[in-house]
Amino acid sequence: MIQLVRGFKDVLPGEIELWQDIEDIMRNIFEEFGFTQIRTPILERTELFARGIGATTDIVEKEMYTFSDLKNESLSMRPEATASVVRAYIEHKMYAQNPVQKLYSMGPMFRRERPQKGRYRQFYQINAEVFGLYSPKIDAELILILMTLMDRLSLTEVVLHINSLGCERCRPAFKERLQIFLAERIETLCPDCRRRYEVNPLRVFDCKAQGCRESLEGAPTILDHLCEECRNHFNEVRDFLNRFQISYKVNPRLVRGLDYYTRTAFEVLAAHLGAQNAVAGGGRYDGLVKALGGPAQPGVGFAVGLDRLASLLSDRAPGLVKQPNVFIAALGDRAQDRAFVWLQALRFEGIRTEMDVEDRSLKSQMRQADKSGASYVLIVGERELEEGAAVWRDMNTKEQETVPLEEVVEFVKKSVMGIASA
Ligand code: HAM
Repeated sequence: MIQLVRGFKDVLPGEIELWQDIEDIMRNIFEEFGFTQIRTPILERTELFARGIGATTDIVEKEMYTFSDLKNESLSMRPEATASVVRAYIEHKMYAQNPVQKLYSMGPMFRRERPQKGRYRQFYQINAEVFGLYSPKIDAELILILMTLMDRLSLTEVVLHINSLGCERCRPAFKERLQIFLAERIETLCPDCRRRYEVNPLRVFDCKAQGCRESLEGAPTILDHLCEECRNHFNEVRDFLNRFQISYKVNPRLVRGLDYYTRTAFEVLAAHLGAQNAVAGGGRYDGLVKALGGPAQPGVGFAVGLDRLASLLSDRAPGLVKQPNVFIAALGDRAQDRAFVWLQALRFEGIRTEMDVEDRSLKSQMRQADKSGASYVLIVGERELEEGAAVWRDMNTKEQETVPLEEVVEFVKKSVMGIASA
């Protein structure tokens, strides 16, 4: 038997309903906040991610599915959406029409990380990006959108962490300070961090190795090295979060795994997810559009990890599979044919209806009806056809009544809709 590729998974019926609910809620929120959808391809030129996310990040160094196609062009499966959305913003000159664009997208991402609970090699993100606005109001607005999603999903056991990563004016000095600090502890760093120390010292904050964590005790923090503009920007973001009554934790060690961030960075962490506990992350990236060949336009955004969100909710919510309203038990060829036409007519009326088209025994069909969770069963066999009336059974009260054959659709509609609107 051919099995799934390691780190990949199927989302099955029974599970998918929750995913769809989350997507619907998020889509509604985006519409309320004036966003429009964008879909970008799964495959892009490798260079887009190398330049966009940063050549020395783990994602680009070791986690991308990269291959050369027939013309020796290096292509990669997207590990995230931001670089692609920025490419589209530039390529289609969306900024020329209006530099301010509020875009959302949903879809699969690919990272060849070591699989574990909550970490997959294909996972799904819901992504938001806003271009063209420097104001801290927008950072706060994006966080508000994210926390509104958590709220509508009744996810109270999540914590928002925020930080500022400074800008190209204040960060270099901080990097130097950090390098000086790390230089004295270089022996205690893991081999990866010794390399990071040279090329990208902020990455050391992301390392999970015990030695590296201990070495960072007493390390300088970026928040103490922000320039005045960055400090004011960060304070304003915090001020709006307070006004929106969004609680947060300032975490000066939050650096994020992608290099494009400037100023605001944030993550939403869940208490019950184990090691892979980030359900969402994002921040501001004021230099990225220009770095990818576009005009000097700022950006800010976030991505929610749908797999992790669904796993958090599945621990709590019972299956959200939509049960049929009506099951038609039809016996014999003539009744089967008549029922099959009712089946479709009722579905067009918006009534979830099922039947067994294999014409199994009444006992078997009643068992199926019971298992399906249908509230009503319509029973029709040779005798009912001759008498001109089908039997309508309420599965909760077990009460039965008869319905003239010509009135079946109208009757079912009234009974089911009547209950639905009660
Ligand atoms: P990220 O923090 O790399 O950010 O990913 C966002 C979310 O995707 C994570 O918080 C997590 O829930 C989920 N995720 C990441 N990797 C995996 C995985 N291997 N398995 C399951 N879930 C995963 C970004 O991707 C940025 N592009 C976000 C952003 C948008 N920043 C600005 N705009």
